[in-house]
Amino acid sequence: CGIVGYVGLPSVGEHQALDVVMEGLRRLEYRGYDSAGVAIVADGDIEMRKKAGKLANLAGEIEHHPLKDSLTGIGHTRWATHGGPTDANAHPHLADGDKLAVIHNGIIENFAEIKKSLLEKGHTFKSETDTEVAAVLLGDIYNGAGNKDLTKSMQLASQQLEGAFTLLAIHADQPGVVVAARRNSPLVVGLGEGENFLGSDVSGFIDFTRRAVELGQDQIVTITPETHTITDFFGNPASGKEFTVDWDAAAAEKDGYESFMEKEINEQPHAVADTLLGRSDANGKLTLDELRIDPEELAKITKIIVLACGTSAYAGQVAKYAIEHWCRIPVEVELSHEFRYRDPIVDPSTLIVSISQSGETMDTLMAVRYAKEQGAKTLSICNTNGSTIPRESDAVLYTHAGPEIAVASTKAFLAQITATYLLGLYLAQIRGNLFSGEIKDILADLGDIPAKIQDVLDRSEQIKELARSMSDAESVLFLGRHVGFPVAMEGALKLKELAYIHAEGFAAGELKHGPIALIDEGKPVFVVVPSPRGRHSMHSKVVSNIQEVRARGAKTLVIAEENDEAVKQFAEWVFYVPETKTLLMPLLATVPLQIFACELARQKGYDVDQPRNLAKSVTVE
Ligand code: G6P
Repeated sequence: CGIVGYVGLPSVGEHQALDVVMEGLRRLEYRGYDSAGVAIVADGDIEMRKKAGKLANLAGEIEHHPLKDSLTGIGHTRWATHGGPTDANAHPHLADGDKLAVIHNGIIENFAEIKKSLLEKGHTFKSETDTEVAAVLLGDIYNGAGNKDLTKSMQLASQQLEGAFTLLAIHADQPGVVVAARRNSPLVVGLGEGENFLGSDVSGFIDFTRRAVELGQDQIVTITPETHTITDFFGNPASGKEFTVDWDAAAAEKDGYESFMEKEINEQPHAVADTLLGRSDANGKLTLDELRIDPEELAKITKIIVLACGTSAYAGQVAKYAIEHWCRIPVEVELSHEFRYRDPIVDPSTLIVSISQSGETMDTLMAVRYAKEQGAKTLSICNTNGSTIPRESDAVLYTHAGPEIAVASTKAFLAQITATYLLGLYLAQIRGNLFSGEIKDILADLGDIPAKIQDVLDRSEQIKELARSMSDAESVLFLGRHVGFPVAMEGALKLKELAYIHAEGFAAGELKHGPIALIDEGKPVFVVVPSPRGRHSMHSKVVSNIQEVRARGAKTLVIAEENDEAVKQFAEWVFYVPETKTLLMPLLATVPLQIFACELARQKGYDVDQPRNLAKSVTVE
């Protein structure tokens, strides 16, 4: 979910709470878009509007039923957990005779218990949400133990709540004040001149200020137009970490593209180039000084476990091939939510590499915390400055893809692969697995990748044409071997996410052990074909797999390396990517599959930036 809060002085002039909050929600909508709502304090009352569906529905509602002027407001855009995406379940939720408004991100685990005791006290509820329980609890405390002090009431309420939450509250009797609490869920303060902001992340206020304060775990913050006061849940003074936001607001706009997704696909040459930038010297020596783990410690690790979810987990799968090959360290790749709850074997010689675009994915955060408790070293590969996972890890290697707004990941994926490769090469360097000349050569090849991605992008029309001809496909399969296998799975995931078409990615060698039964006349099958060059090429094996599916009627759509003339005769359609090393091929072969999914979804009239049921940053387990 996305959360915004605002307080300002009248002299700041043109800013109205509603405008600031709506602008923040617009930028945070990628975090959830099942419903949205706002509340403001005006003339001793709370005014609220909320609506199921995307932010545009809320904007329409406000146009029909305008809100009064106000300088204190909160807003929320929701990804439903407790209770379906209805108007009633949308946030904010009111309590204390409609004088208190609360919004929430996360899940309150002991809500049923608290609700029971509040019902016994005679309170009533209008929705099924855990958030309303928090609101009613806060109202109850405000009128009793909290004694009309919103900050103190929030502290007392937070002490009772279990689970993950960011809560924001405003009260009709307290204009000019927004109080927030944070546990296991993101929250940042934006500092202005005579106005202050709250946001789930900095994009919630990036149009208004670059000065931000990161809150720590279990903290409460109270903002007024001229102050921000941080305490722990027990009222003891605490402090946050101030930082300056370096993202350009313009980088979060569409730049003339029809969608963020298209823009981000086209930004991939930069995402890779910027991630490589400044991380090696002219002699091909990696200089990852930013890693805060002592190289001697790193040299001693005996096992790597990569933890991630979704697309980031496929970046991890690609990394496994490269890191094992270069460093001869065993690499396991596991979905964070599976790892966390299965009693995994982790010890101080294990390096945990978490990969997360947002740095907030709750499944991954919990897995990292668990591994840390077991004594493992933790390294985060992340695209978002100041987010929770890198903050809680021993080391961080940032991907420099820039803000990724479209919910389905594209440029962050290529940047993640790039960063894991830098890490692999760095480990090989400090452990002496590769000669410096070898590392230098691989880095040079990596350096050529951005221009090669650009070459693929320049020929995207060929892929779009194919996508347009396939808009009534019901199921599409993707095959690959070696690094082509995770590419196949990522290609299938993009198609599911964007075009809602059934798709699956398989290891091409596994085909004959089951999936081949799915093949019938005309079934579209994408095949990622490795380079025919090199002694260990899997080319002929993959070509055999193409023939196997073709013999059973499949329509074979092939991604191959340029000059691979041999594959043509087995394919209905071929798209050539420039030559590169086998391990680097995912950085090229993924791109046509992204373009394919995006164009097919567009053709079907779907919103490629905000696919149904998904959210970019999933901050619940
Ligand atoms: C969500 C998004 C996916 C993303 C995954 C992991 O499910 O919809 O696109 O790959 O989370 O996100 P992360 O921010 O941890 O990389």
